Amino acid sequence: MHAHWLDDSATALDADTLAAHGVVYEFLGTNPAEYQPKLDDYKSQRGYGTQDEVGLNPSLENLDEICAKFDKEHLHTDDEVRFVIDGEGIFDIRSSDDRWMRVVVEPGDLIIVPKDKHHRFRLTESKSIHCVRLFQDQSGWVPVYRAASD
Ligand SMILES: [Fe+2]
Repeated sequence: MHAHWLDDSATALDADTLAAHGVVYEFLGTNPAEYQPKLDDYKSQRGYGTQDEVGLNPSLENLDEICAKFDKEHLHTDDEVRFVIDGEGIFDIRSSDDRWMRVVVEPGDLIIVPKDKHHRFRLTESKSIHCVRLFQDQSGWVPVYRAASD
């Protein structure tokens, strides 16, 4: 993971700073024997009943269409939980004072964007990411777009 303020790329953001703005970050490792028990802990502690996997990559015919759903500022009524197995992605997440925090996630990274927190997501130039998703209720994971977004 590397993270910084979008309007101040010289200032890195660490996990403690992200946590102060409500975002959970933890490196869980890249070996399933290592990360799955930790994911199981999150599931029991935070009430995530469902685990699945999702992949985005250039072999998907509708990749641009899928990405267009998430690259505009939105929130969800359930936490957005992603653990990166492969590839990378860019989350821009609003701080408590409405600045953008840019978080680039890589294999082994777990990120939790809490419910009701505005954010957007896009792929890096490699256009490829493979993630585990955890959620409480799939219906809470429909994007709710922010009315006036820059
Ligand atoms: Fe989202």
